[in-house]
Amino acid sequence: MNLWALLLIIVILLAMYFMLGSFLWGAGYQPTPASVVRRMMGMARIGPKDRVYDLGAGTGALVFAALDEGAASVVGLEIEPLRALILRWRRGRHARGDRLELRREDLFKTDLREATVILAFLWPGAMRRLDEKFRAELRPGTRVISYWHPLEGWKAFEEDRKMRVYGYEVPSSLPSDGTSA
Ligand SMILES: C[S@@+](CC[C@H](N)C(=O)[O-])C[C@H]1O[C@@H](n2cnc3c(N)ncnc32)[C@H](O)[C@@H]1O
Repeated sequence: MNLWALLLIIVILLAMYFMLGSFLWGAGYQPTPASVVRRMMGMARIGPKDRVYDLGAGTGALVFAALDEGAASVVGLEIEPLRALILRWRRGRHARGDRLELRREDLFKTDLREATVILAFLWPGAMRRLDEKFRAELRPGTRVISYWHPLEGWKAFEEDRKMRVYGYEVPSSLPSDGTSA
């Protein structure tokens, strides 16, 4: 095998790891397209009192948009080490980067009680796992904006089926038994 073929195989393997490796933790990597980010931000109505969590921050499409919207603080959870590095690098270059907390940790193990806005672009299985966590931890009034996958059994306050963006608001009493929110 010549050197170029070997290099090509290494690049392909690295790209596969980058995009798919984190399926082991809950979702692969794909950045949210810019038009969808704008739609999500419109639904989230982020303001200066909001503490925004992105569950699986990737390379930052949502966390930096949330900073630009004027959030008081943003928490980006990302478990994959290469993307965590890219996020740190981008934070250093962002004008409001001091308001972004980056955590290399498992989103399923993170306490979400402080969130006022949750952003997510994950996988159906991950959304099902999060249902119970949201019911246990999110405070009334917290907005959950999900791209691509709806929260089954929850009543959306707004949904854009064409763009596949779903917005939910945690009601004052949320049944913990999995019935409709
Ligand atoms: C589809 S990408 C979305 C990235 C970003 N939020 C965006 O919208 O552009 C999902 C991200 O979640 C991360 N992820 C998957 N499982 C995770 C877990 N258990 N804890 C933290 N991050 C996770 C992946 O590494 C990946 O970067």
